[in-house]
Amino acid sequence: MKPKLVVGNWKMNKPFDDAQDLILDIQNNLKDRKLQTEVVLCPPFVYMELITDIAEEEDSQFYAGAQNCSEHESGAYTGEVSAEMLASMGVEFCIVGHSERRKYFGETNAVIAQKIDLLLKNDIVPIVCCGELLEERKAGKHTQVVQQQIEESLFHLQASEFERVIIAYEPVWAIGTGETATPAQAEEMHAFIRSLVEKKYGTEMAYNTYILYGGSCNPKNAADLFMQEDVDGGLIGGASLKADDFCAIIDAGENVLKEN
Ligand code: 13P
Repeated sequence: MKPKLVVGNWKMNKPFDDAQDLILDIQNNLKDRKLQTEVVLCPPFVYMELITDIAEEEDSQFYAGAQNCSEHESGAYTGEVSAEMLASMGVEFCIVGHSERRKYFGETNAVIAQKIDLLLKNDIVPIVCCGELLEERKAGKHTQVVQQQIEESLFHLQASEFERVIIAYEPVWAIGTGETATPAQAEEMHAFIRSLVEKKYGTEMAYNTYILYGGSCNPKNAADLFMQEDVDGGLIGGASLKADDFCAIIDAGENVLKEN
């Protein structure tokens, strides 16, 4: 089993003082530990420097990640933030194609593909989200939907590019609802995604690709999810806003690795 990757997606939460406290609490909780689990914190853009300042220190336990970037390289796009800007701030990961961006900001697979290209060009690891709506699962179309999202946003990449990508499966019906996919549901989809990667890029690439689960992952269910063969970690929303919960999920990653 590979070491787990745990990514905190803060979304649009917390005023500055609370954000600062959260980072300090996480830092204190993790300091002096020899973690095998990799940790990425994705705050809102305006707080990025709080994370990059710490992430750049030699003994830092986490990396800086963004929640989004522009599909444009640079120029007159008021309010947007480019991949180049993120890279120049020391950001090493970026979430793309989150279902909230697909739903509220009309992001298509084609736009997501453009963002992925710009992130890779700037040496930032894209964390590419996919996942079906409840209606799609009820209609038995969940694998078809996820296959299309992955093929259209990722499969134009060369192998040397794809190897730098992380995939996050986030069933939309599980996000922020308290209704988690069962470990079996998560494993079924993760194994399916890995089989798509294997067909396109081969067995070694499929094994090495990190596939995270996201959607109401919390300290209670994280271990059961992380124990699944094809679940390489978690993309955590609500539970990443409380240092104790987030660190308990990291602990679950550590424990599962030790036991397997
Ligand atoms: P919750 O953990 O709050 O369900 O959010 C998951 C998510 O969307 C992470 O990107």
